[in-house]
Amino acid sequence: MRILSGIQPSGALHLGNYFGMMRPAIELQEKGEAFYFIANYHSMTSLFDAAERRKNTLDVALDFLACGLDPKRSVFWRQSDVPEVCELTWMLGTLTPMGLLERCHSFKDKSAKGIPVNHGLFAYPVLMAADILLFDSNIVPVGRDQKQHVEVTRDIAIKFNEAYGHTFVIPEPQIKDETAAVPGLDGQKMSKSYGNTIEIFGDEKALRKKIMGIVMDSRTPAEPKPDAEKNLAVQLLRLVAPADVAADFENRLRAGGLGYGDLKKALFEHYWNHFAAARARRAELAANLDHVESVLRDGASRARTVAAKVLKRARQASGLE
Ligand code: ADP
Ligand code: TRP
Repeated sequence: MRILSGIQPSGALHLGNYFGMMRPAIELQEKGEAFYFIANYHSMTSLFDAAERRKNTLDVALDFLACGLDPKRSVFWRQSDVPEVCELTWMLGTLTPMGLLERCHSFKDKSAKGIPVNHGLFAYPVLMAADILLFDSNIVPVGRDQKQHVEVTRDIAIKFNEAYGHTFVIPEPQIKDETAAVPGLDGQKMSKSYGNTIEIFGDEKALRKKIMGIVMDSRTPAEPKPDAEKNLAVQLLRLVAPADVAADFENRLRAGGLGYGDLKKALFEHYWNHFAAARARRAELAANLDHVESVLRDGASRARTVAAKVLKRARQASGLE
């Protein structure tokens, strides 16, 4: 079984990225052949600063490796080191109806907000389809917001197979219900674009301040809270603390007598401890960037071997060869 996923180098990674995509992807390393990459071509649709892209790319590599991506078990590379994906994007684009892309949230939401949209952003799901199909991927672990893109990928693969004969594996998205949409500091979906993120790694003081600053309602500590399970800090605590600890805080909140300040303090401590080992690993990796670069280069060469075979199959099927 082949598992594939990608993540854009568009800013510091956060708990939504971790619980929605990275942790499931890391767990799946045991279940099959895992292929994970840093989607730097994708980041070109909305980030126009070269130095920032380079820095973010390295940060994503450090974050992912620190969190447990094991390069001995998985193939890990920078998307642009396997440029074959661009050729496949062209081929797939010719079978992609405009309407399919017009319906994609990635494009629709930005354009509705009046953000200037470029052709790359419009065609972004086609590049993502090429990422997935180029590696004969069976399973694509992602957060819920990417489900539509995997569905588009399936549609395009089916069209190609109908037009040119069976060429591509039809992939399945894998979305974990419990973590499909991790809430951010304001209760909306956690997202870089909403400015409501809790980063996986970062400055302790600033992160403590962010968590202690979560706005709650004005009920007194003594008041029972029958809706305790909906409390944002409780929801986040469930992700970073052992289940019995999170349940205990939830029950205390429900019964009354637990103040929001104490709840947020507990959330910060559990969050900080949750990533303690990863933080130490990240510091080691950051002190050995040559190693990180060689992991990515080795990953690219392994990825390219697979990509070349699948691309040749598509070229032959479609009469380019
Ligand atoms: P952002 O919304 O911060 O820009 P991305 O779109 O780059 O995040 O998402 C990268 C991966 O992380 C995707 O698989 C996405 O589904 C997942 N993801 C992002 N935010 C969340 C969230 N709040 N909950 C669950 N998964 C998320
Ligand atoms: N579009 C994805 C995101 O923004 C990243 C991505 C690019 C991806 N190519 C992919 C995810 C292929 C899964 C499979 O999060």
